[in-house]
Amino acid sequence: MKKVGIIGAMELEVEALKGKMEICQKTEKASMEFLEGTLNNTQAVIVRSGIGKVNAAVCAQILCDLFEVSHIINTGVAGSLKNEINIGDIVVSTDALHHDMDVRVFGYPLGEVPQMGCLAFRADQHLSQLAVSCCKEVNPEISVYRGRIVSGDQFISDKQVKEGIIRNFQGFCVEMEGASIAHTAYLNHVPFVIIRAISDKADDSAQMDYPSFEKAAAAHSAKLVEHMLPEI
Ligand code: ADE
Repeated sequence: MKKVGIIGAMELEVEALKGKMEICQKTEKASMEFLEGTLNNTQAVIVRSGIGKVNAAVCAQILCDLFEVSHIINTGVAGSLKNEINIGDIVVSTDALHHDMDVRVFGYPLGEVPQMGCLAFRADQHLSQLAVSCCKEVNPEISVYRGRIVSGDQFISDKQVKEGIIRNFQGFCVEMEGASIAHTAYLNHVPFVIIRAISDKADDSAQMDYPSFEKAAAAHSAKLVEHMLPEI
């Protein structure tokens, strides 16, 4: 049976979806509130994980264990890592990795979690392609990109740090949860995709731009998630 787990790190990333859901049950676990119900005629569980990779991994594991979700979608905002990807645009993941994982001293490539056998966790092809086609339908004024999403427990707001991440990983955008959700989904054999709207450019302007654009950006991503659900 199809049951889609939807994770946003912050309330503003899930509030619109919660407002539209016909809620059947609320469950509290690990200080997170999981809302089960129907959203756009689809069985779903919506949850705010909290910020950062540990919160996101705990949340994704609960979705797998307790709610037995069939798919996981991560919706939210991110900092752009490409000049042509502007504030308000959307990035859909092809894969995701931890930009702050570094075990090079034992021969692992920068970003690779030792003994996992892969550098990046691949998103489900169907979910990823569906997200792009739905985005063109529901947000025609917005540019949508497919590419690598990189995550770390850092808000990137320094041009030099940003350039290092670009050089090392060729990411399209940077955020703080996606790779953990991808990693957890991979361990549990659950198909996933990350959908992020750009709130800032992850450089010295990020601190100013982020508060101005996060709400509108989060709404773009949430709208897309809602519309793709029946077609999963
Ligand atoms: N989420 C949104 N913008 C971000 C940034 N610049 N760095 C990390 N996470 C983000």
